[in-house]
Amino acid sequence: MRTQTERVDIQLGDRSYDILIGSGLLAQSVSFDGVQRASSAVIVTNPTVASLYSAQLHTALRTLYPKVLQIELQDGEAFKDWSSLNQIFEALLSAGCDRKTVIYALGGGVVGDVAGFAAACYMRGVPFVQVPTTLLAQVDSSVGGKTAINHPLGKNMIGAFYQPLRVVADLDTLDTLPDRELSAGLAEVIKYGPIADDAFLSWIETNLDALWARDKAALAHAVKRSCEIKAWVVSQDERESGVRAILNFGHTFGHAIEAGLGYGAWLHGEAVGCGMVMAADLSRRLGLIDTAYVDRLTRLIERAKLPIRGPALGSERYLELMRVDKKSEGGEIRFVVIDAPGRASMRAAPDAVVRDVIATHTA
Ligand code: NAD
Ligand code: GLY
Repeated sequence: MRTQTERVDIQLGDRSYDILIGSGLLAQSVSFDGVQRASSAVIVTNPTVASLYSAQLHTALRTLYPKVLQIELQDGEAFKDWSSLNQIFEALLSAGCDRKTVIYALGGGVVGDVAGFAAACYMRGVPFVQVPTTLLAQVDSSVGGKTAINHPLGKNMIGAFYQPLRVVADLDTLDTLPDRELSAGLAEVIKYGPIADDAFLSWIETNLDALWARDKAALAHAVKRSCEIKAWVVSQDERESGVRAILNFGHTFGHAIEAGLGYGAWLHGEAVGCGMVMAADLSRRLGLIDTAYVDRLTRLIERAKLPIRGPALGSERYLELMRVDKKSEGGEIRFVVIDAPGRASMRAAPDAVVRDVIATHTA
């Protein structure tokens, strides 16, 4: 069933933009109306996504730009690195791309983060459009302007804040997403409940089966509500000097899992799912929420087919990895905690309590 196109605005003064959410958007040039014209557009993607969707995007862009180029990065979190970034710069320079060239990031969060960072750097910044094709990218990574590559010593450590001109989330692309990737995206959808909207958490509990069945109306609501919450947070704090940090609920533990196991061993969303269980339990141990709420969240994460136990890296290794987190200050780890259902904040926690959380929730 086709859904009507929904629109969410993200208010950032002269960097404001809109997010279009709907079916059949990819191949329609109208989806890109108002985006800057130039002599060339460059689609950055990977072979998996290119084989499925780049022809549709070419169809739309061909009517808008005299030249449409394509760059294919290797697929996977392990390639969110310097070499992929360089591959983009070399392709842009070799093709003589000027500073008006518009970059289109077609793919999941990996493509979006690398292509966005390349757009931020190439000739000190060229315009770019996010065309997210995973649930995770549609509800989170394509919105808000965080762009980055990983460093072996820490996740997303090299990057920039750089907003896209538009986000076009075509729900039809989710039809081909592997189940494991759908689960990973659900982790970031679930995240918005505890941090900002308890009613949305209840809605997800009721509609999880429909989301699993990739019901378009359910997906449209999940993507739209997630983007509304993210837009509301980012509009208040674009560069994460305060409230934006709540979007990282579960990510401090999650990033430690990803870096500790080696990027790509667990999907980002899987690590975040497990990280949310740990962060919820930490909130309980700090006296903020009760056991019933931790159990409720844990059940939902498990129903979304996400891991609820972390790998046995050892608590000292977790602590070491978490100290590299961007939210750390002076070596002190700062966690996103749930103060009450639908409300979150940041705080430090005694190492002993964090060790107990890790011991309880690792295999
Ligand atoms: P991903 O980009 O690796 O995509 C997952 C897999 O799905 C890949 O193999 C990809 O080729 C494939 N794929 C993509 N679209 C598909 C489709 N429609 N059909 C079939 N296969 C498809 O992973 P992801 O989960 O989208 O993104 C994870 C990344 O996003 C992480 O690097 C994470 O750090 C980042 N992230 C960034 C932000 C941000 O604010 N910038 C927020 C959250 C996550
Ligand atoms: N995904 C966290 C953020 O965008 O701030």
